[in-house]
Amino acid sequence: MSEQQHADSEVIIETRNVSRIYPGVTALDNVNYRVYRNKVNVLIGENGAGKSTMMKMLAGVETPSSGEILLDGKPVTLGSTQQAEKHGISIIFQELNLFPNMNVMDNIFIGKEFFQRGVINEKYQYELGKSLLERLNLDVDPYAPLNELGIGHQQMVEIARSLSKDTRVLLMDEPTSALSQSEVKVLFNVIEQLKRRGVTIIYISHRLEELMEIGDHITIFRDGRFIGERPVRDASVPWIIEQMVGDKKKHFDYQPAPQGEQVLEVKGLTALAQNGGYKLNDVSFSLRKGEVIGIYGLLGAGRTELFKGLIGLMGCQSGSVVLNGEDLSKRDFSTRLKKGIALVPEDRQGEGVVQMMSIKTNMTLTDLSLRGFRRCLSLLNPAKEDEGVTDMVKKLAIKVSDAELPITSLSGGNQQKVVLGKALMSGPEVVLLDEPTRGIDVGAKTDVYHLVGQMAKQGLAVMFSSSELDEVMALADRVLVMADGRITADLARADATREKIISASTPQA
Ligand SMILES: Nc1ncnc2c1ncn2[C@@H]1O[C@H](COP(=O)(O)OP(=O)(O)OP(=O)(O)O)[C@@H](O)[C@H]1O
Ligand SMILES: [Mg+2]
Repeated sequence: MSEQQHADSEVIIETRNVSRIYPGVTALDNVNYRVYRNKVNVLIGENGAGKSTMMKMLAGVETPSSGEILLDGKPVTLGSTQQAEKHGISIIFQELNLFPNMNVMDNIFIGKEFFQRGVINEKYQYELGKSLLERLNLDVDPYAPLNELGIGHQQMVEIARSLSKDTRVLLMDEPTSALSQSEVKVLFNVIEQLKRRGVTIIYISHRLEELMEIGDHITIFRDGRFIGERPVRDASVPWIIEQMVGDKKKHFDYQPAPQGEQVLEVKGLTALAQNGGYKLNDVSFSLRKGEVIGIYGLLGAGRTELFKGLIGLMGCQSGSVVLNGEDLSKRDFSTRLKKGIALVPEDRQGEGVVQMMSIKTNMTLTDLSLRGFRRCLSLLNPAKEDEGVTDMVKKLAIKVSDAELPITSLSGGNQQKVVLGKALMSGPEVVLLDEPTRGIDVGAKTDVYHLVGQMAKQGLAVMFSSSELDEVMALADRVLVMADGRITADLARADATREKIISASTPQA
Protein backbone atom coordinates (compact mmCIF):
# COMPACT_ATOMS: atom_id res chain seq x y z
CA MET A 1 0.00 0.00 0.00
CA SER A 2 1.28 3.52 -0.70
CA GLU A 3 1.64 6.21 1.98
CA GLN A 4 -1.49 7.92 0.71
CA GLN A 5 -3.55 4.77 0.92
CA HIS A 6 -2.44 4.27 4.50
CA ALA A 7 -3.49 7.75 5.44
CA ASP A 8 -6.88 7.09 3.93
CA SER A 9 -7.28 3.64 5.37
CA GLU A 10 -9.95 3.16 7.98
CA VAL A 11 -7.65 1.66 10.58
CA ILE A 12 -5.21 3.99 12.29
CA ILE A 13 -3.81 1.63 14.94
CA GLU A 14 -3.66 -2.11 14.81
CA THR A 15 -2.15 -4.56 17.25
CA ARG A 16 -0.95 -7.93 15.98
CA ASN A 17 -0.84 -10.80 18.43
CA VAL A 18 -0.03 -8.48 21.29
CA SER A 19 0.42 -10.21 24.64
CA ARG A 20 1.37 -8.79 27.99
CA ILE A 21 2.37 -11.15 30.71
CA TYR A 22 2.86 -10.17 34.34
CA PRO A 23 4.08 -12.63 36.94
CA GLY A 24 1.19 -15.03 37.28
CA VAL A 25 -1.21 -13.09 35.04
CA THR A 26 -1.69 -12.92 31.31
CA ALA A 27 -3.22 -9.46 31.08
CA LEU A 28 -3.40 -9.57 27.26
CA ASP A 29 -3.36 -12.76 25.27
CA ASN A 30 -2.56 -12.53 21.54
CA VAL A 31 -4.80 -9.58 20.93
CA ASN A 32 -5.54 -8.26 17.45
CA TYR A 33 -7.20 -4.95 18.14
CA ARG A 34 -8.16 -2.35 15.55
CA VAL A 35 -8.71 1.34 16.17
CA TYR A 36 -10.68 3.16 13.49
CA ARG A 37 -9.52 6.52 12.20
CA ASN A 38 -11.41 9.62 13.25
CA LYS A 39 -13.98 7.57 15.15
CA VAL A 40 -14.89 7.24 18.79
CA ASN A 41 -13.70 3.69 19.45
CA VAL A 42 -15.32 2.40 22.61
CA LEU A 43 -13.81 -0.48 24.52
CA ILE A 44 -15.67 -2.52 27.09
CA GLY A 45 -15.04 -5.59 29.21
CA GLU A 46 -15.22 -6.82 32.77
CA ASN A 47 -12.83 -5.65 35.49
CA GLY A 48 -9.46 -7.14 34.72
CA ALA A 49 -10.29 -7.82 31.05
CA GLY A 50 -7.14 -6.00 29.94
CA LYS A 51 -8.53 -2.67 28.74
CA SER A 52 -6.20 -0.43 30.73
CA THR A 53 -3.26 -2.69 29.90
CA MET A 54 -3.98 -2.22 26.20
CA MET A 55 -4.16 1.54 26.69
CA LYS A 56 -0.81 1.48 28.49
CA MET A 57 0.73 -0.34 25.51
CA LEU A 58 -0.61 2.23 23.06
CA ALA A 59 0.46 5.15 25.24
CA GLY A 60 4.00 3.86 25.68
CA VAL A 61 3.63 3.31 29.41
CA GLU A 62 4.27 -0.39 29.07
CA THR A 63 5.64 -2.51 26.25
CA PRO A 64 4.13 -5.72 24.89
CA SER A 65 5.72 -9.00 25.98
CA SER A 66 5.23 -10.08 22.37
CA GLY A 67 3.47 -8.98 19.21
CA GLU A 68 3.57 -5.68 17.38
CA ILE A 69 1.74 -2.39 17.15
CA LEU A 70 1.10 -0.77 13.78
CA LEU A 71 0.38 2.91 13.32
CA ASP A 72 -0.82 3.91 9.85
CA GLY A 73 0.11 0.42 8.72
CA LYS A 74 3.72 0.62 9.91
CA PRO A 75 5.19 -1.10 12.95
CA VAL A 76 6.10 1.37 15.69
CA THR A 77 7.94 1.18 18.97
CA LEU A 78 6.13 3.06 21.69
CA GLY A 79 8.71 2.71 24.42
CA SER A 80 7.77 5.74 26.51
CA THR A 81 4.96 8.26 26.81
CA GLN A 82 7.22 10.83 25.14
CA GLN A 83 7.68 8.52 22.17
CA ALA A 84 3.94 7.87 21.96
CA GLU A 85 3.27 11.60 22.17
CA LYS A 86 5.67 12.20 19.30
CA HIS A 87 3.39 9.96 17.28
CA GLY A 88 0.47 12.05 18.50
CA ILE A 89 -0.92 9.51 20.98
CA SER A 90 -1.80 10.72 24.46
CA ILE A 91 -3.72 9.25 27.34
CA ILE A 92 -5.99 10.24 30.18
CA PHE A 93 -5.49 7.61 32.83
CA GLN A 94 -8.19 5.76 34.70
CA GLU A 95 -6.76 6.85 38.01
CA LEU A 96 -6.06 10.54 38.40
CA ASN A 97 -2.51 11.35 37.62
CA LEU A 98 -2.22 14.86 38.95
CA PHE A 99 -0.26 16.67 41.62
CA PRO A 100 -2.62 17.59 44.46
CA ASN A 101 -0.31 20.20 45.99
CA MET A 102 0.20 22.17 42.80
CA ASN A 103 -2.26 24.60 41.31
CA VAL A 104 -4.59 23.87 38.40
CA MET A 105 -2.45 25.73 35.88
CA ASP A 106 0.80 23.98 36.77
CA ASN A 107 -0.99 20.66 36.59
CA ILE A 108 -2.10 21.39 33.05
CA PHE A 109 1.35 22.30 31.80
CA ILE A 110 3.67 20.16 33.85
CA GLY A 111 6.23 18.42 31.67
CA LYS A 112 5.35 20.47 28.61
CA GLU A 113 5.81 24.02 29.73
CA PHE A 114 6.10 26.81 27.19
CA PHE A 115 9.45 28.54 27.40
CA GLN A 116 10.54 31.93 26.22
CA ARG A 117 14.25 32.69 26.41
CA GLY A 118 14.79 29.89 28.86
CA VAL A 119 12.07 30.81 31.33
CA ILE A 120 8.52 29.55 31.52
CA ASN A 121 6.19 31.85 29.64
CA GLU A 122 3.65 32.24 32.44
CA LYS A 123 1.51 34.72 30.59
CA TYR A 124 1.10 32.56 27.52
CA GLN A 125 0.38 29.50 29.66
CA TYR A 126 -2.16 31.42 31.65
CA GLU A 127 -4.05 32.53 28.54
CA LEU A 128 -3.92 29.09 26.94
CA GLY A 129 -4.85 27.40 30.20
CA LYS A 130 -7.77 29.72 30.71
CA SER A 131 -9.10 29.08 27.24
CA LEU A 132 -8.82 25.31 27.76
CA LEU A 133 -10.72 25.56 31.04
CA GLU A 134 -13.34 27.70 29.33
CA ARG A 135 -13.72 25.16 26.55
CA LEU A 136 -14.56 22.65 29.25
CA ASN A 137 -16.96 25.08 30.93
CA LEU A 138 -14.86 24.66 34.00
CA ASP A 139 -15.41 27.48 36.42
CA VAL A 140 -12.29 27.19 38.56
CA ASP A 141 -9.53 29.58 39.46
CA PRO A 142 -6.43 28.58 37.45
CA TYR A 143 -4.36 29.31 40.53
CA ALA A 144 -6.46 27.24 42.94
CA PRO A 145 -4.56 24.35 44.52
CA LEU A 146 -5.76 21.17 42.88
CA ASN A 147 -6.63 19.48 46.17
CA GLU A 148 -9.30 22.09 46.82
CA LEU A 149 -11.24 20.81 43.83
CA GLY A 150 -13.75 17.97 43.99
CA ILE A 151 -12.78 14.78 42.24
CA GLY A 152 -15.04 15.54 39.25
CA HIS A 153 -13.33 18.86 38.66
CA GLN A 154 -9.92 17.27 39.07
CA GLN A 155 -10.85 14.85 36.32
CA MET A 156 -11.74 17.79 34.07
CA VAL A 157 -8.31 19.31 34.76
CA GLU A 158 -6.75 16.06 33.61
CA ILE A 159 -8.77 16.37 30.41
CA ALA A 160 -7.66 19.99 29.93
CA ARG A 161 -4.10 18.77 30.33
CA SER A 162 -4.40 16.35 27.43
CA LEU A 163 -6.13 18.95 25.23
CA SER A 164 -3.07 21.16 25.54
CA LYS A 165 -1.08 18.65 23.50
CA ASP A 166 -1.07 18.15 19.79
CA THR A 167 -2.98 14.93 19.77
CA ARG A 168 -4.04 12.66 16.89
CA VAL A 169 -5.21 9.77 19.03
CA LEU A 170 -6.61 10.42 22.48
CA LEU A 171 -7.06 7.53 24.87
CA MET A 172 -9.60 8.02 27.64
CA ASP A 173 -9.70 5.36 30.31
CA GLU A 174 -12.96 5.74 32.25
CA PRO A 175 -12.92 9.52 32.08
CA THR A 176 -16.43 9.93 33.40
CA SER A 177 -16.44 7.71 36.44
CA ALA A 178 -16.10 10.77 38.66
CA LEU A 179 -18.04 13.28 36.59
CA SER A 180 -21.53 14.60 37.18
CA GLN A 181 -24.11 14.40 34.44
CA SER A 182 -23.59 17.98 33.33
CA GLU A 183 -19.83 17.46 33.24
CA VAL A 184 -20.32 14.34 31.13
CA LYS A 185 -22.32 16.45 28.65
CA VAL A 186 -19.48 18.95 28.40
CA LEU A 187 -17.00 16.14 27.88
CA PHE A 188 -19.13 14.64 25.12
CA ASN A 189 -19.21 18.03 23.39
CA VAL A 190 -15.44 18.20 23.62
CA ILE A 191 -15.20 14.71 22.10
CA GLU A 192 -17.43 15.80 19.20
CA GLN A 193 -15.25 18.89 18.67
CA LEU A 194 -12.10 16.77 18.68
CA LYS A 195 -13.64 14.37 16.18
CA ARG A 196 -14.45 17.25 13.86
CA ARG A 197 -10.80 18.22 14.04
CA GLY A 198 -9.83 14.73 12.87
CA VAL A 199 -8.80 13.27 16.23
CA THR A 200 -9.30 9.56 16.85
CA ILE A 201 -10.66 8.67 20.28
CA ILE A 202 -10.50 5.49 22.30
CA TYR A 203 -12.99 5.60 25.12
CA ILE A 204 -13.34 3.12 27.97
CA SER A 205 -16.31 3.04 30.28
CA HIS A 206 -18.47 0.61 32.19
CA ARG A 207 -21.53 2.73 31.52
CA LEU A 208 -23.27 1.15 28.57
CA GLU A 209 -25.62 4.06 27.88
CA GLU A 210 -22.60 6.32 27.50
CA LEU A 211 -20.91 3.98 25.08
CA MET A 212 -24.04 3.73 22.98
CA GLU A 213 -24.39 7.50 22.92
CA ILE A 214 -20.83 8.54 22.16
CA GLY A 215 -19.38 5.49 20.40
CA ASP A 216 -19.02 4.83 16.68
CA HIS A 217 -17.34 1.47 16.97
CA ILE A 218 -17.37 -0.96 19.90
CA THR A 219 -14.81 -3.61 20.83
CA ILE A 220 -15.15 -6.17 23.58
CA PHE A 221 -12.34 -7.79 25.59
CA ARG A 222 -12.79 -10.69 27.97
CA ASP A 223 -10.09 -12.27 30.16
CA GLY A 224 -7.29 -10.63 28.21
CA ARG A 225 -8.67 -11.63 24.84
CA PHE A 226 -10.25 -9.85 21.93
CA ILE A 227 -13.83 -11.14 21.69
CA GLY A 228 -15.64 -9.07 19.10
CA GLU A 229 -16.21 -5.70 17.43
CA ARG A 230 -19.03 -3.94 15.62
CA PRO A 231 -20.22 -0.52 14.55
CA VAL A 232 -22.21 0.72 17.53
CA ARG A 233 -25.37 1.09 15.43
CA ASP A 234 -25.29 -2.69 14.84
CA ALA A 235 -24.59 -3.61 18.45
CA SER A 236 -27.45 -4.33 20.83
CA VAL A 237 -27.11 -4.19 24.60
CA PRO A 238 -27.85 -7.93 25.07
CA TRP A 239 -25.20 -8.74 22.44
CA ILE A 240 -22.62 -6.60 24.22
CA ILE A 241 -23.35 -8.12 27.62
CA GLU A 242 -23.19 -11.62 26.22
CA GLN A 243 -19.80 -10.89 24.64
CA MET A 244 -18.58 -9.42 27.91
CA VAL A 245 -19.58 -12.10 30.34
CA GLY A 246 -19.75 -15.20 28.13
CA ASP A 247 -21.44 -17.88 30.16
CA LYS A 248 -20.70 -16.23 33.52
CA LYS A 249 -24.11 -14.55 33.76
CA LYS A 250 -25.14 -13.35 37.20
CA HIS A 251 -28.38 -12.23 38.65
CA PHE A 252 -29.37 -10.26 41.72
CA ASP A 253 -32.63 -10.80 43.59
CA TYR A 254 -33.52 -8.36 46.32
CA GLN A 255 -34.28 -10.10 49.58
CA PRO A 256 -34.81 -7.97 52.66
CA ALA A 257 -32.89 -9.07 55.76
CA PRO A 258 -34.71 -9.26 59.10
CA GLN A 259 -34.32 -5.93 60.86
CA GLY A 260 -33.21 -5.69 64.46
CA GLU A 261 -32.91 -2.86 66.92
CA GLN A 262 -31.81 0.64 66.07
CA VAL A 263 -28.02 1.07 65.92
CA LEU A 264 -27.53 4.57 64.62
CA GLU A 265 -29.47 7.71 65.31
CA VAL A 266 -28.60 11.00 63.70
CA LYS A 267 -30.30 14.21 64.79
CA GLY A 268 -30.06 17.67 63.29
CA LEU A 269 -26.57 17.17 61.86
CA THR A 270 -25.45 20.49 60.44
CA ALA A 271 -22.17 21.57 58.82
CA LEU A 272 -21.57 25.02 57.44
CA ALA A 273 -19.83 25.64 54.16
CA GLN A 274 -17.25 28.40 53.71
CA ASN A 275 -19.50 30.36 51.37
CA GLY A 276 -22.10 30.75 54.11
CA GLY A 277 -24.31 27.94 52.84
CA TYR A 278 -24.63 24.45 54.24
CA LYS A 279 -22.72 21.27 53.57
CA LEU A 280 -25.25 19.49 55.76
CA ASN A 281 -28.46 21.11 56.80
CA ASP A 282 -30.36 19.60 59.73
CA VAL A 283 -29.98 15.97 58.71
CA SER A 284 -31.88 13.44 60.83
CA PHE A 285 -32.55 9.75 60.33
CA SER A 286 -32.05 6.43 62.04
CA LEU A 287 -30.75 3.06 60.96
CA ARG A 288 -31.53 -0.45 62.21
CA LYS A 289 -29.52 -3.64 62.26
CA GLY A 290 -29.95 -5.48 58.99
CA GLU A 291 -31.25 -2.40 57.23
CA VAL A 292 -29.89 -1.14 53.90
CA ILE A 293 -30.35 2.55 53.21
CA GLY A 294 -29.64 3.93 49.76
CA ILE A 295 -28.77 7.60 49.46
CA TYR A 296 -29.58 9.20 46.18
CA GLY A 297 -28.66 12.71 45.16
CA LEU A 298 -27.02 14.64 42.38
CA LEU A 299 -23.37 15.59 42.57
CA GLY A 300 -22.96 18.21 45.29
CA ALA A 301 -26.14 17.15 47.09
CA GLY A 302 -24.16 16.31 50.23
CA ARG A 303 -23.84 12.54 50.08
CA THR A 304 -20.09 12.40 50.63
CA GLU A 305 -20.33 15.15 53.25
CA LEU A 306 -22.94 13.15 55.13
CA PHE A 307 -20.63 10.14 55.28
CA LYS A 308 -17.69 12.27 56.32
CA GLY A 309 -19.78 13.94 59.01
CA LEU A 310 -20.94 10.57 60.34
CA ILE A 311 -17.48 9.11 60.63
CA GLY A 312 -15.83 12.30 61.91
CA LEU A 313 -13.71 13.24 58.91
CA MET A 314 -15.57 16.53 58.60
CA GLY A 315 -16.46 18.81 61.46
CA CYS A 316 -20.14 19.51 62.15
CA GLN A 317 -21.32 22.61 64.01
CA SER A 318 -24.38 21.01 65.57
CA GLY A 319 -26.39 17.84 65.79
CA SER A 320 -25.64 14.38 67.17
CA VAL A 321 -24.48 10.99 65.95
CA VAL A 322 -25.50 8.27 68.40
CA LEU A 323 -24.25 4.71 67.97
CA ASN A 324 -25.82 2.06 70.19
CA GLY A 325 -26.97 4.73 72.61
CA GLU A 326 -23.55 6.38 72.86
CA ASP A 327 -23.14 9.93 71.60
CA LEU A 328 -20.08 10.06 69.33
CA SER A 329 -20.56 13.61 68.08
CA LYS A 330 -17.51 14.88 69.92
CA ARG A 331 -15.34 11.87 69.19
CA ASP A 332 -12.71 11.71 66.47
CA PHE A 333 -12.49 9.51 63.43
CA SER A 334 -10.45 6.68 64.91
CA THR A 335 -12.71 6.41 67.96
CA ARG A 336 -15.76 6.18 65.72
CA LEU A 337 -14.01 3.52 63.66
CA LYS A 338 -13.14 1.57 66.83
CA LYS A 339 -16.71 1.85 68.03
CA GLY A 340 -17.91 0.29 64.80
CA ILE A 341 -18.56 2.78 61.99
CA ALA A 342 -16.59 2.06 58.81
CA LEU A 343 -16.38 4.09 55.63
CA VAL A 344 -15.48 3.04 52.11
CA PRO A 345 -14.62 6.35 50.48
CA GLU A 346 -15.51 7.44 46.99
CA ASP A 347 -12.02 8.45 45.99
CA ARG A 348 -10.22 5.14 46.26
CA GLN A 349 -6.90 6.53 45.08
CA GLY A 350 -6.81 9.52 47.39
CA GLU A 351 -8.35 8.08 50.51
CA GLY A 352 -8.91 4.42 49.96
CA VAL A 353 -5.64 2.72 49.21
CA VAL A 354 -1.98 3.08 49.99
CA GLN A 355 -0.33 2.79 46.60
CA MET A 356 3.01 1.42 47.70
CA MET A 357 1.61 -1.39 49.79
CA SER A 358 0.49 -4.87 48.89
CA ILE A 359 -3.09 -5.89 48.40
CA LYS A 360 -2.97 -7.78 51.69
CA THR A 361 -1.56 -4.88 53.70
CA ASN A 362 -4.08 -2.54 52.18
CA MET A 363 -6.87 -4.79 53.26
CA THR A 364 -5.73 -5.38 56.80
CA LEU A 365 -4.76 -1.80 57.41
CA THR A 366 -8.11 -0.59 58.56
CA ASP A 367 -7.26 2.79 59.92
CA LEU A 368 -7.77 5.07 56.97
CA SER A 369 -5.81 7.77 58.73
CA LEU A 370 -2.87 5.40 58.40
CA ARG A 371 -1.96 5.13 62.03
CA GLY A 372 -1.84 1.41 61.54
CA PHE A 373 -4.57 0.62 64.00
CA ARG A 374 -6.15 -2.77 63.59
CA ARG A 375 -9.53 -3.33 65.03
CA CYS A 376 -9.64 -7.11 65.00
CA LEU A 377 -7.04 -8.39 67.42
CA SER A 378 -7.29 -11.74 65.76
CA LEU A 379 -5.87 -10.16 62.64
CA LEU A 380 -2.57 -9.56 64.40
CA ASN A 381 -2.00 -13.24 64.07
CA PRO A 382 -0.38 -13.61 60.63
CA ALA A 383 -1.95 -16.97 59.87
CA LYS A 384 -5.39 -15.62 60.72
CA GLU A 385 -4.61 -12.52 58.70
CA ASP A 386 -3.82 -14.61 55.63
CA GLU A 387 -7.00 -16.57 56.15
CA GLY A 388 -9.03 -13.39 56.47
CA VAL A 389 -7.56 -11.92 53.31
CA THR A 390 -8.01 -15.12 51.32
CA ASP A 391 -11.59 -15.32 52.50
CA MET A 392 -12.27 -11.70 51.52
CA VAL A 393 -10.60 -12.10 48.13
CA LYS A 394 -12.92 -15.03 47.49
CA LYS A 395 -16.06 -13.34 48.79
CA LEU A 396 -15.49 -10.30 46.62
CA ALA A 397 -14.28 -12.32 43.63
CA ILE A 398 -11.16 -10.15 43.43
CA LYS A 399 -9.12 -11.14 40.41
CA VAL A 400 -5.65 -11.47 41.87
CA SER A 401 -2.83 -13.96 41.46
CA ASP A 402 -1.04 -13.08 44.69
CA ALA A 403 -2.20 -10.93 47.61
CA GLU A 404 1.41 -9.90 48.26
CA LEU A 405 1.54 -7.93 44.99
CA PRO A 406 1.34 -4.14 45.13
CA ILE A 407 -2.20 -2.85 44.95
CA THR A 408 -1.39 -0.93 41.78
CA SER A 409 -1.08 -4.24 39.94
CA LEU A 410 -4.85 -4.71 40.22
CA SER A 411 -7.28 -3.43 37.63
CA GLY A 412 -9.20 -0.30 38.66
CA GLY A 413 -12.38 -2.13 39.58
CA ASN A 414 -10.52 -4.72 41.59
CA GLN A 415 -8.77 -2.00 43.58
CA GLN A 416 -12.21 -0.75 44.51
CA LYS A 417 -13.08 -4.20 45.81
CA VAL A 418 -9.96 -4.23 48.01
CA VAL A 419 -11.12 -0.99 49.58
CA LEU A 420 -14.46 -2.62 50.27
CA GLY A 421 -12.78 -5.66 51.76
CA LYS A 422 -10.72 -3.41 53.97
CA ALA A 423 -13.76 -1.80 55.54
CA LEU A 424 -15.35 -5.16 56.19
CA MET A 425 -12.27 -6.55 57.85
CA SER A 426 -12.50 -3.92 60.56
CA GLY A 427 -15.56 -5.76 61.87
CA PRO A 428 -17.96 -2.81 61.76
CA GLU A 429 -21.60 -2.52 62.85
CA VAL A 430 -22.45 0.30 60.51
CA VAL A 431 -20.93 0.33 57.04
CA LEU A 432 -20.96 3.49 54.93
CA LEU A 433 -20.31 2.89 51.24
CA ASP A 434 -19.78 6.00 49.15
CA GLU A 435 -20.48 5.07 45.51
CA PRO A 436 -19.38 1.46 46.03
CA THR A 437 -19.85 0.45 42.40
CA ARG A 438 -18.06 3.33 40.77
CA GLY A 439 -15.77 1.87 38.09
CA ILE A 440 -16.99 -1.66 38.63
CA ASP A 441 -18.17 -3.71 35.66
CA VAL A 442 -21.74 -4.89 35.23
CA GLY A 443 -20.98 -8.41 36.41
CA ALA A 444 -18.96 -7.37 39.44
CA LYS A 445 -21.65 -4.88 40.45
CA THR A 446 -23.80 -7.89 41.09
CA ASP A 447 -21.03 -9.25 43.38
CA VAL A 448 -21.13 -6.01 45.35
CA TYR A 449 -24.95 -6.17 45.59
CA HIS A 450 -24.76 -9.73 46.90
CA LEU A 451 -22.16 -8.64 49.39
CA VAL A 452 -24.36 -5.83 50.65
CA GLY A 453 -27.21 -8.32 50.98
CA GLN A 454 -24.94 -10.66 52.96
CA MET A 455 -23.78 -7.88 55.24
CA ALA A 456 -27.37 -7.02 56.05
CA LYS A 457 -28.17 -10.67 56.74
CA GLN A 458 -25.31 -10.77 59.21
CA GLY A 459 -27.01 -7.91 61.04
CA LEU A 460 -24.85 -5.05 59.79
CA ALA A 461 -26.51 -1.75 59.09
CA VAL A 462 -25.52 -0.52 55.64
CA MET A 463 -25.73 2.89 54.03
CA PHE A 464 -24.62 3.33 50.46
CA SER A 465 -24.76 6.23 48.06
CA SER A 466 -25.20 6.05 44.34
CA SER A 467 -25.83 8.35 41.46
CA GLU A 468 -27.55 5.51 39.62
CA LEU A 469 -31.23 5.45 40.27
CA ASP A 470 -31.65 1.82 39.26
CA GLU A 471 -29.01 0.78 41.72
CA VAL A 472 -30.62 2.59 44.62
CA MET A 473 -34.00 1.13 43.74
CA ALA A 474 -32.65 -2.41 43.32
CA LEU A 475 -30.72 -2.62 46.54
CA ALA A 476 -32.20 -0.41 49.26
CA ASP A 477 -34.81 -1.19 51.91
CA ARG A 478 -35.22 2.53 52.31
CA VAL A 479 -34.18 5.47 50.14
CA LEU A 480 -33.04 8.83 51.47
CA VAL A 481 -32.91 11.54 48.86
CA MET A 482 -30.57 14.49 49.36
CA ALA A 483 -30.43 17.92 47.77
CA ASP A 484 -28.48 20.98 48.94
CA GLY A 485 -27.25 19.22 52.07
CA ARG A 486 -30.76 18.30 53.24
CA ILE A 487 -32.73 15.11 53.28
CA THR A 488 -35.62 15.90 50.97
CA ALA A 489 -37.32 12.50 51.08
CA ASP A 490 -37.22 9.40 53.27
CA LEU A 491 -38.99 6.66 51.33
CA ALA A 492 -39.73 3.04 52.22
CA ARG A 493 -38.88 0.66 49.38
CA ALA A 494 -42.50 0.26 48.36
CA ASP A 495 -42.95 4.04 48.01
CA ALA A 496 -39.64 4.72 46.34
CA THR A 497 -40.78 5.33 42.80
CA ARG A 498 -38.57 6.80 40.11
CA GLU A 499 -40.72 9.94 39.94
CA LYS A 500 -40.64 10.59 43.69
CA ILE A 501 -36.89 10.12 43.90
CA ILE A 502 -36.12 12.36 40.94
CA SER A 503 -38.41 15.12 42.01
CA ALA A 504 -36.95 15.13 45.55
CA SER A 505 -33.40 15.24 44.21
CA THR A 506 -33.92 18.40 42.19
CA PRO A 507 -32.82 21.39 44.24
CA GLN A 508 -35.64 23.91 44.75
CA ALA A 509 -34.85 27.29 43.24
N1 LIG B 1 1.65 -4.26 37.00
C1 LIG B 1 0.91 -5.38 37.07
N2 LIG B 1 1.36 -6.48 37.72
C2 LIG B 1 0.62 -7.60 37.79
N3 LIG B 1 -0.61 -7.74 37.24
C3 LIG B 1 -1.12 -6.68 36.57
C4 LIG B 1 -0.40 -5.44 36.45
N4 LIG B 1 -1.16 -4.57 35.73
C5 LIG B 1 -2.30 -5.23 35.42
N5 LIG B 1 -2.27 -6.51 35.93
C6 LIG B 1 -3.34 -7.52 35.79
O1 LIG B 1 -3.73 -7.57 34.43
C7 LIG B 1 -5.14 -7.83 34.33
C8 LIG B 1 -5.78 -6.77 33.43
O2 LIG B 1 -5.82 -5.54 34.12
P1 LIG B 1 -6.38 -4.20 33.48
O3 LIG B 1 -6.05 -3.10 34.42
O4 LIG B 1 -5.90 -4.08 32.09
O5 LIG B 1 -7.95 -4.47 33.48
P2 LIG B 1 -9.17 -3.52 33.02
O6 LIG B 1 -9.86 -4.21 31.90
O7 LIG B 1 -8.67 -2.15 32.78
O8 LIG B 1 -10.12 -3.57 34.29
P3 LIG B 1 -11.01 -2.40 35.05
O9 LIG B 1 -12.31 -2.36 34.35
O10 LIG B 1 -11.20 -2.97 36.43
O11 LIG B 1 -10.24 -1.15 35.04
C9 LIG B 1 -5.68 -7.85 35.74
O12 LIG B 1 -5.82 -9.19 36.14
C10 LIG B 1 -4.60 -7.14 36.54
O13 LIG B 1 -4.58 -7.60 37.86
MG1 LIG C 1 -8.95 -0.34 33.76
